[in-house]
Amino acid sequence: MTALTVNERPVRIEIDPQTPLLWALRDAANLTGTKYGCGVGDCGACMVLVDGEALRSCLITLAEAEGRYITTIEGLSRDRSHPVQQALVAEQAIQCGYCTPGIAIAAASLLARNPAPSEDEIKQAVPNLCRCGVYPRLVRAIQRAGRVARRQERISAAPAPGIDPADAAVAVPAMRPAPAPSGD
Ligand code: FES
Ligand code: FES
Repeated sequence: MTALTVNERPVRIEIDPQTPLLWALRDAANLTGTKYGCGVGDCGACMVLVDGEALRSCLITLAEAEGRYITTIEGLSRDRSHPVQQALVAEQAIQCGYCTPGIAIAAASLLARNPAPSEDEIKQAVPNLCRCGVYPRLVRAIQRAGRVARRQERISAAPAPGIDPADAAVAVPAMRPAPAPSGD
């Protein structure tokens, strides 16, 4: 049994502690927003925040995550209102979207320590691979997210037209509140 905090909830995961954190999150916690790309640390699709640092969850075992504070894309914001999420949509820096969760995590980590990054700083801190080639829009989106975070600009948090907010707020078992004690 491995105890850790995922998206602000304490969880205990009963699988082999040597399992990569990526698969513990996806298979045991049903947090499938974190993607499997290469499995060997090259692509960044699997990035999650570990104590605030963007790390590749395919390279960390569940045992190494014991006691750590993990944030996945589902926990970055409950309503997609994080500045990075808003700016990625607003700048249309998403094509197939497979790389997007890892990029959002890397960008959020960067902006938390440097809210006004240069293009070079973004390229260094967000090394994620995107097979669709959204890189130029990505730089614009991350710099715009920084302006939003610094309150120099606002972007509507509303879901894109045609998406029902109820559908957008997809519930997954790991994010539901723990049941209240029965009192028996
Ligand atoms: S799946 Fe982890 S870096 Fe590619
Ligand atoms: S948007 Fe398709 S891989 Fe990046």
